[in-house]
Amino acid sequence: MQLTHPIFKVLSEIATAKGLEIYVIGGYVRDLILRRPSKDIDIVVLGSGIELAETAAKQLGNLNVSVFKNFGTAMFRYKGMEIEFVGARKESYQRDSRKPIVEEGTVDDDQKRRDFTINALAISLNQETYGQLVDPFGGMQDLKDGILRTPLDPVITFSDDPLRMMRAVRFASQLNFTIEAITFEGIIANKERLKIVSKERIMDEFNKIMASPRPSVGLKLLEQTGLLDVFFPELTALKGVESVDGIGHKDNFYHTLTVLDSVSRVSDDLWLRWAALLHDIAKPVTKKFIPGQGWTFYGHNHVGERMVGKLFNRLKLPQNEKMKYVQKLVSLHMRPIVLSEEIVTDSAVRRLLFDAGDDIDDLMTLAEADITSKNEVKVRRFMQNFQIVRQKLKEVEEKDAIRNFQPPVSGEEIMETFNLPPCKAIGDIKNAIKEAILEGIIGNDPTEAREYMFKVAAELGIQKQ
Ligand code: CTP
Repeated sequence: MQLTHPIFKVLSEIATAKGLEIYVIGGYVRDLILRRPSKDIDIVVLGSGIELAETAAKQLGNLNVSVFKNFGTAMFRYKGMEIEFVGARKESYQRDSRKPIVEEGTVDDDQKRRDFTINALAISLNQETYGQLVDPFGGMQDLKDGILRTPLDPVITFSDDPLRMMRAVRFASQLNFTIEAITFEGIIANKERLKIVSKERIMDEFNKIMASPRPSVGLKLLEQTGLLDVFFPELTALKGVESVDGIGHKDNFYHTLTVLDSVSRVSDDLWLRWAALLHDIAKPVTKKFIPGQGWTFYGHNHVGERMVGKLFNRLKLPQNEKMKYVQKLVSLHMRPIVLSEEIVTDSAVRRLLFDAGDDIDDLMTLAEADITSKNEVKVRRFMQNFQIVRQKLKEVEEKDAIRNFQPPVSGEEIMETFNLPPCKAIGDIKNAIKEAILEGIIGNDPTEAREYMFKVAAELGIQKQ
């Protein structure tokens, strides 16, 4: 195996001098074989990982070493990589447990307590066997076949750390691998144990699934294993088709996945992907069958917007402008399509621009992805209409610059002009100006806006002082 990073030779020499057995192990080896880039290198040593790290760091020019005594691990940065050191262990891989791990083991012991065969591969850094692959569980074959399998009975591997069930799905989604049948059954049998894992760690993995090339791969696996229901029942509630009087509605879970994949084809933005995931989240709670009308989901965009806030809170996702962005897109997601169904007037386009602001392009991407009809004629018509909406958006923006709308006449100016104290009339005048601009009665221009201000004030019985 070709090891190019300069750290390997250095460590090999130190270990030889100290008479220590040493290997590079885990994700780095997997990614090396898959030719994927990696950011960290895990080194396992039969003996003290901390001691080895300290010796190496000193030799490399007194590098800063972070030591985690309780875990028996140490880390330093070198030439763009985080190099992590650990002593080989017999006990479970418990890096997140508070209990220190004391029992030393062989490299084989260490490998079998890892999550998947493809993550249990090691490469020797020892002088006589330098560069040789150590693969006791057929990890290489599994890499070739694209299979995720636990080295031990999955019940042991998953109870050591239930987060590994999420990792299985995450790797499957990132690498487009299959979870082998016994491992898959092991997840189903242990899914409830995910409840003991913190939301932050679950979301870390979930966001990696969301960031993968086709997030639907991971989401389908989460659904099939039952994991999704454990931490995200609002999504599984989207599943299923109900029928009344022979009229059914679409399965909103699979529809959501199609929208999510379409958005992911054109954007890596995690939060736009979240907006796609949640755009119909309130459909189950707003669903109603109305005779003569069929299935309706009135207000699902607004109820959805509120649900996003609650979900982000429960799932420990950021409660900041990212959340507000997702809420905004969920609440507006039907606007472009409704608009494209009508004659596209300038004022409707101006209003859409006003409400979406800088997120207009993302909103258009989401709305376009939302068209998943099988009826080709319908799809073509929508797409043509969207072209018209996009064109109009451009024209209106060029003319009126509504995207980052700033009131052309400020509240202070209105107060000064009419010698008014702060009062309701100021807001009314400002609002009337804004409405006039959006309706196209006046342009988005200070001179026209000031003229209009006098007109509105006169109507309200307010005179210039
Ligand atoms: N590992 C494990 N169980 C876990 C986490 C990690 O067995 N719950 C082991 C695996 O051998 C893994 C290695 O520790 O390869 C390093 O873990 P980590 O850096 O979290 O993941 P990587 O596999 O390197 O993948 P990525 O960098 O994509 O997160």
